[in-house]
Amino acid sequence: MLIELFNLTKNFKEVKAVDNISFKVNRGEVFGLLGENGAGKTTTLRMLATMLKPTSGKVLIDGENLLDEPEKVRSKIGILFGGTTGLYDRLTAYENIEYFGLLNGMDKREIKYSINNLIKDLDMNEYINRKVGKFSKGMKQKVAIARSIVHDPKIMFFDEPTSGLDVTSVRMVHKFIDKLRKSGKTIVFSSHSMKEVDKLCDTVGIIHKGKMAEVTSLFDLRNKYNDLDLEEIFIEIIGDKNEH
Ligand SMILES: Nc1ncnc2c1ncn2[C@@H]1O[C@H](COP(=O)(O)OP(=O)(O)OP(=O)(O)O)[C@@H](O)[C@H]1O
Ligand SMILES: [Mg+2]
Repeated sequence: MLIELFNLTKNFKEVKAVDNISFKVNRGEVFGLLGENGAGKTTTLRMLATMLKPTSGKVLIDGENLLDEPEKVRSKIGILFGGTTGLYDRLTAYENIEYFGLLNGMDKREIKYSINNLIKDLDMNEYINRKVGKFSKGMKQKVAIARSIVHDPKIMFFDEPTSGLDVTSVRMVHKFIDKLRKSGKTIVFSSHSMKEVDKLCDTVGIIHKGKMAEVTSLFDLRNKYNDLDLEEIFIEIIGDKNEH
């Protein structure tokens, strides 16, 4: 098991943002965290990424206890968070990615090799040497993705990686995640879209009001709710929880 959460909880004053959730992610698995706005996805990922201290609970990442060894954990993970990308407007796309590589202890030659591959995968050739200040949202998002994984981490946390992207860019990000999976990376990402989760994931965790409503393989989920369409399955599961 590469990632294990045990009763992870985060309270913001009286708000139970993440309420006692547990799940496991195997090496090489793509795990989708699916839930509505405010369900607790970002809070969960921020805790996994060592950016936010849990109120209680335990997390093991590649054998390391997240609370005891945050530095060790950090070197193994790539993190992408939505919203503000945190890119430097005055630097070019290349320089932004390079800077992050340097922070992660890479030398310039390694970085160049890695960036050249990312340029191809994410189709960034046209603007790689332009300053990011005037980039569109999708262009920035691709640079942010490239930056988050330039150091080739074995574990990746992507918070809504396709949010705000157009159809072409969404496809490209999907293809890219698929490529990462094929190369053996372990990925946890969040999404609102059952369709997206279905397309990319082996396992889905449905999170609702801070609680894990269901953790299941897509295969089992489809068998259990055989003739329902995916969005209906999602509504069914969270609807169930609302009634109790
Ligand atoms: N820093 C914070 N301070 C106080 N409350 C917070 C903080 N961060 C998150 N919350 C609350 O925790 C809950 C879960 O928020 P979170 O951002 O994890 O949801 P989400 O599933 O990522 O939603 P979305 O799909 O809208 O991104 C919400 O009620 C939110 O208001
Ligand atoms: Mg969020």
